[in-house]
Amino acid sequence: MRIVAAIGGSIIIKDYNYKKFQEYAEILGNLAKEHEIFVVVGGGKPARDYIQIVRDLDCGEAKCDDIGIEVTRINAKLLLLSLEDKAYQKVPHNFQEALEYSASGKIIVMGGTEPAHSTDAVSAILAEYVKADLLINLTSVDGMYNKDPNKYPDAELIEEITADEMLEAIKGKDVKAGTYEFFDMTAIQMIRRSALESIIVNGDNPENLVKAMNGEKIGTKIVSK
Ligand code: UTP
Repeated sequence: MRIVAAIGGSIIIKDYNYKKFQEYAEILGNLAKEHEIFVVVGGGKPARDYIQIVRDLDCGEAKCDDIGIEVTRINAKLLLLSLEDKAYQKVPHNFQEALEYSASGKIIVMGGTEPAHSTDAVSAILAEYVKADLLINLTSVDGMYNKDPNKYPDAELIEEITADEMLEAIKGKDVKAGTYEFFDMTAIQMIRRSALESIIVNGDNPENLVKAMNGEKIGTKIVSK
C-alpha cells in the first residue's frame, strides 16, 4: 500500500523532546518494509509561538504562515534524523519534489508548502498527487465527535462521516495562521474530490497508525459519499 501519514505537531513536538520522534521512527521504519510511506509533519506549539512573533511585528498573515511552514520543516527534519537511512534525507518543499525523492524507495518526510492552509491540507494534496491508497491523520484527539467532548461529557465519537458532512461541520471556523481547527477546509475538499480513503486517529499512541493501516475499528473514517 502507498500511505500518507500526517502527524500533528501537537503530537510529535508536544513535550519538546526526542521521544515521539524516536517512537514514530521505529514504527514507520517497520511499516516501510512492506509499504510505501510518505509523512507530513505539523508545527505544533513552536509554530504558534513563532507565528505570534511575526503577528506582533504586524507583517501580515501570509508571512505568519511562512514562519509556520519553516517550523513544520524543522520538525520534518527532526523526524528524518530519527529515521536515519530509512528516509530520504531531504525535506521536499513541494509535491513534485516529494514524488521525485520517492524514487529512492525510502520514506519521504515533508512539512508545509504554501501559505493559507495547514499540513492537513498538504497531506491530502500529497495523497492525491502520489495516488495514495490511504491517508491517515494522526492528531491529538480520538477522532471527530458529534459535539465538543471538552464541554459535553456525553459527546460521542463519530465512526464514519462524509466529506460533505464534515465541510458543513467546520464551516465558518477560523482560518488564521496557527489556528486551524481540527481539520482544514482545503483538506476535506481534496478528500472529497479524489474520493480518498482517510482516517483520523489519536496519534499520541503511534501504534494507532498500524491499527488504522490494518483496518481496525479506530478513530473517524471520512468517506467521499
Ligand atoms: P500546522 O499544520 O501544524 O497547523 O502548521 P495547525 O493545524 O495550526 O497546528 P497543529 O500542529 O495541527 O496543532 C502550522 C502553521 O503553519 C502554516 C499555517 O499558519 C499553520 O497554522 N502553514 C503550514 C502554512 O501556511 N502552509 C502549510 O502548507 C503548512
